[in-house]
Amino acid sequence: SKRKPLIAGNWKMNGLGSSAPEFVTVIGAYMGPMRHAVDLMVFPPATLLTSFATATRGAGVLVGAQDCHPEPNGPYTGDISAEMIADAGGKAVIVGHSERRADHSETDALIRSKAEAAFRAGLVAIVCVGETADEREQKRAAAVVGEQLQGSLPDAAKAENLVVAYEPVWAIGSGLTPTIAEVEEMHGFIRAELAKRFGAESDKFRILYGGSVKPANAAEILTAADVDGALVGGASLKAADFLAIAKAAQ
Ligand code: G3H
Repeated sequence: SKRKPLIAGNWKMNGLGSSAPEFVTVIGAYMGPMRHAVDLMVFPPATLLTSFATATRGAGVLVGAQDCHPEPNGPYTGDISAEMIADAGGKAVIVGHSERRADHSETDALIRSKAEAAFRAGLVAIVCVGETADEREQKRAAAVVGEQLQGSLPDAAKAENLVVAYEPVWAIGSGLTPTIAEVEEMHGFIRAELAKRFGAESDKFRILYGGSVKPANAAEILTAADVDGALVGGASLKAADFLAIAKAAQ
């Protein structure tokens, strides 16, 4: 592919202080020789951001957070800002994950303001989109994803500060995945939507697939047209599995 693959591990609400050293030993040893071929990012819970950023320094692995607040600071109990993520050594943030859209009623407008906050703080924003099982059944998947892209992506998006992650909600943590033809159809649609909005720059944006990516299916998914990497949940918790997925991206 003309775009460098990105393998991103989203740890969700998993991981304690003992997690960083093992991850860094396994992944760091690999990334020495392979960092020219694949970008690797890990998104631990916010409590581990600093220790992961410290432990991965020089290992060629970037660290990020799973969400941010749109404001830089203020009376928002429990939230963290993009500036705080950058201050803790983070280089990226996931926004609009379907678990946040569903469990915290996040709208496209809010997600867009979070992505803008990420840019302001110098972070890469990984903006997630994806349809539910019902929406796919009703043949509305492309319409839903198109609307999410329209509402969630900031006008200032550039290939170096924005990554799109396509995650069909029904494929997350379920062991189910779309067929390769379905993945290619949606990624092609997303690329075309990016072209309408961002012109020639659209060719440079990385579009990740997420949802039940495992070592066993990684090679097939990662070589599909317009798939520039993966956003990995469950399988990113085991360093050896995450490593196997990263190798499949080379
Ligand atoms: O952000 C990651 C996705 O939600 C995928 O999760 O790999 O456990 O299906 P999963």
